[in-house]
Amino acid sequence: MSTQHLMTDELSSVDLQTFRQVMASFASGITVVTTTDAEGVPRGLTCSAFCSVSVDPPLLLNSVASRSGSLKAILERGRFAVNILSSDDEKTSNVFASGAPDKFDQVAWDTGPTTGMPLLRGTVAHAECELDNAVVAGDHTLLLGRVVAGATGLDKLPLTYWRSDYAKLAPGARAVHPMPSAA
Ligand SMILES: Cc1cc2nc3c(=O)[nH]c(=O)nc-3n(C[C@H](O)[C@H](O)[C@H](O)COP(=O)(O)O)c2cc1C
Repeated sequence: MSTQHLMTDELSSVDLQTFRQVMASFASGITVVTTTDAEGVPRGLTCSAFCSVSVDPPLLLNSVASRSGSLKAILERGRFAVNILSSDDEKTSNVFASGAPDKFDQVAWDTGPTTGMPLLRGTVAHAECELDNAVVAGDHTLLLGRVVAGATGLDKLPLTYWRSDYAKLAPGARAVHPMPSAA
């Protein structure tokens, strides 16, 4: 097969089921991405598509379905918070994955001191972000957030997700784990 062949012929996409099965085999944590809308009403969604992007500047990424109701509020507000859920937070994950109009009535939360974005209580960690960029990718929008503040709860184990179900870390996993150094 020549290089030219590779460059000019577009290959067809994998079937959706295979794509879903492959991607679901990557274990992740669970975040709840929060913001406030133009009226100051808190909005948020459960989002497992989350990663670190850059150290300088400190950037993180959440991939959000472009049809998400929370996305419009995030884009308008230009700020959001990422709440990394603990193993106690399965119910919280399901609440924020639902279409419930009163998601924030079902959880304890505070107003972020730096951005004013909603921070859920009892999480493993949270990051307060300014929206650095939003990139449409297929049917999702990649939110790049510049982290302006954050904190961790050292005594918590994370909620994990694998093959479309919540999962527990292996026995022996330590809740209090040394944090990586800055170097
Ligand atoms: C475990 C789990 C992970 C999810 N991850 C994502 C994700 O990465 N991106 C996304 O857009 N939706 C994700 N969802 C779905 C949204 O949470 C769901 O569509 C939610 O209702 C959107 O709320 P909104 O329309 O109020 O913004 C996930 C749901 C669950 C249960």
